[in-house]
Amino acid sequence: MRVLVLHGPNMNLLGEREPGVYGHATLEEIDTRIGERSRHLGAEVRTFQSNHEGALIDRLHAERRWADGILFNPGALTHYAWSLRDAVAAVSLPCIEVHLSDVSKREPWRHLSVLADVRAALCAGRGLDSYLEALELLLEIAPGPERDADEVVALLAERLAHPDDRRVLAGELAQIIRRSGRFRWVGLYDVGPAEVEVLGWAGPGPPVHPRFPVSEGLTAVAVSSERSVVVQDVRGDPRYLPTLEGTRAEAIFPVSAGTRVVGTLDVESANAQAFTAERFRWLERCVEGLGPFWKTG
Ligand code: DQA
Repeated sequence: MRVLVLHGPNMNLLGEREPGVYGHATLEEIDTRIGERSRHLGAEVRTFQSNHEGALIDRLHAERRWADGILFNPGALTHYAWSLRDAVAAVSLPCIEVHLSDVSKREPWRHLSVLADVRAALCAGRGLDSYLEALELLLEIAPGPERDADEVVALLAERLAHPDDRRVLAGELAQIIRRSGRFRWVGLYDVGPAEVEVLGWAGPGPPVHPRFPVSEGLTAVAVSSERSVVVQDVRGDPRYLPTLEGTRAEAIFPVSAGTRVVGTLDVESANAQAFTAERFRWLERCVEGLGPFWKTG
């Protein structure tokens, strides 16, 4: 996954420019953080800043075959530079509009965005985190090589063939599924008679509840019914036990050995409605490939 990050006018002065509005981070610090997070997520990034509308367009054109998606903070150009809107439409790459400040709560002239009808999403008002959030989202929505389920099962089998510490192995299996399916977060849990415990995970952070009673959360539903559970928007579901901030959709797949559920695969997305029927089938196939992890563990 290759990401082009474009920063518009006056962003080169971040750090000294109106810190009360834009924070104290310099552009270099922002780019460094985006770079670090990208490496962690397995993405490649190119960043560019210009104070000139045409230069931003030229760069977008130049990178259009390299990039899989764009993070774009056009600065004040956001509010009037229609050629930027046309440039984004022309390259037809998924574009996430980013702002450090919450433009919707500022002067009325900042409420208009030329990108409104061509962007895939908007991340604003969270300072530097707006960029990191946008990056995560882009990795989920940008078209990219989503591996064929059989290929993933082969990768899982290959990894399972080399015995290792169970926690290390669980983390690596989670990473294979996460990268292959471009999900936000993937975790493998052991299900005991009374408690559920995370063994390994891959994503932006550890789960809020690494261990919890088997009677709680959507896991309880999956374990007691021995069936997969999908919630397309957890905000409306009282059964949801938070795993990490920013999750919108969650799917839990139980794995049985003999007569009882011994493990679960938990998959999370930042996008509501993320689990299409196709992605769901893809995950079910991956879960079959994971079976031996619990059966021999
Ligand atoms: C900005 C918001 C714009 O309105 C402003 O002109 C900027 C920065 C932001 O990141 O908050 O230059 O894009």
